Amino acid sequence: MSHQAFVARRQRLLTQIGNGVAILPTAPERVRNRDTHHPYRFDSYFWYLTGFPEPDAVLVLVGGQGDSKPQSLLFCREKDATREVWDGFRYGPEAAQTAFGFDAAYPISELATRLPDLLANRAALWHSLGVDVEWDQRLGGVINTLRGQARKGLRPPSAVQDLHAALDAMRRVKDGHEMDWLRQSCAIACAGHVRAMRMARGGMAEYELEAELTYAFRRRGADAHAYPPIVASGASACILHYTENNRLLGEHSLVLIDAGCELQGYAADITRTFPVSGRFSGPQREAYEIVLAAQTAAFAAIRPGAAFIDYHDAAVRVLTQGMLDLGLLQGSLDGLIEAGAYQRFYMHRTGHWLGLDVHDAGEYKDGDDWVRLRPGMTLTVEPGLYIPPAADVPAHLHGMGIRIEDDVLVTAHGLENLTAAAPKTVAEIEAVMGHD
Ligand code: GLY
Ligand code: MN
Ligand code: MN
Repeated sequence: MSHQAFVARRQRLLTQIGNGVAILPTAPERVRNRDTHHPYRFDSYFWYLTGFPEPDAVLVLVGGQGDSKPQSLLFCREKDATREVWDGFRYGPEAAQTAFGFDAAYPISELATRLPDLLANRAALWHSLGVDVEWDQRLGGVINTLRGQARKGLRPPSAVQDLHAALDAMRRVKDGHEMDWLRQSCAIACAGHVRAMRMARGGMAEYELEAELTYAFRRRGADAHAYPPIVASGASACILHYTENNRLLGEHSLVLIDAGCELQGYAADITRTFPVSGRFSGPQREAYEIVLAAQTAAFAAIRPGAAFIDYHDAAVRVLTQGMLDLGLLQGSLDGLIEAGAYQRFYMHRTGHWLGLDVHDAGEYKDGDDWVRLRPGMTLTVEPGLYIPPAADVPAHLHGMGIRIEDDVLVTAHGLENLTAAAPKTVAEIEAVMGHD
């Protein structure tokens, strides 16, 4: 992607901050053990505004004031021939300025000396307090330094504004570049799920399917898993965040896979549940069709102007009716929904925003009201049904965990399903697994 998209986002934010100054560091590198690091992942906010992949970098947006135009500045690592032999290429300020469209770029070592001047006599500092205590202290120190320089005519910013909140509002509605990355990330994730379905055999370990997903993602150029993948066979699927992935696949069990890749920072988040044997049993099929119908109902409730919670409510209604039909619950449909009785077998929300973070940035409520959906919003649709092994319900349902999760983009008239290529109906799944 050309740097123009990032420049445009920075310009949008600059118009919002007036003559304020925004300070946005990227994520630090994290030690895993001794001198080994975790794979590096940039900060999502920083990436959203820069596309700059290196650690030890800080974006400073300086609002326009008087005759001076708004400016976006990067502070980053200097070129270092010796370090580059060990750790690989780094841009250095000069190349970074050109490649990423900054107005100026400086060595990160100059940030401390330049910060007081950058913040002096500005109405507001835009920063998110409490995210990183070291940065809070550092900026507090600069503000204090400026307080002591009143005689030189220097004043600290009189307000601190929440930078993340401003960016959350922008990130909630995706631009065309983001939609393209999400489409590509989702396409790769779909291919991973197809591969897992084709490779599944009774007696395999769950981690063998995890390895197939990793292979499919990486060989298509995805950077990583977007989150720890869940490969849960049998009753493990009733543990919502099961990530041990170390049990053997039962010949007659279902396996729930919740996995998605990350591409250019953009997450896919797909769940598919399928029979290890390639053929649904009668009870498995009956329960599966209920979850699928709940998802269809949820899809129908997604369109511009709908409240964010509407599609959850639509799914809950179908799931609760299904629980009645299966003999999991007794009573009236409305009464059970009203009382939240369905939560025994369906205890999570039907979805979340999706983007640079798998549970993406952005509020779900504006004040007391649920956010209204708008074209460009991306979200997951993930109804499920989880019947623990020890539940006092019909025995043939014990230990069944089913979730179906797709990623959708809200469009002018409804939605685009970004993960439609992952087989989902009983017939599609049985066909891809070789039982058509
Ligand atoms: N994979 C995390 C989620 O579905 O929310
Ligand atoms: Mn998921
Ligand atoms: Mn999800």
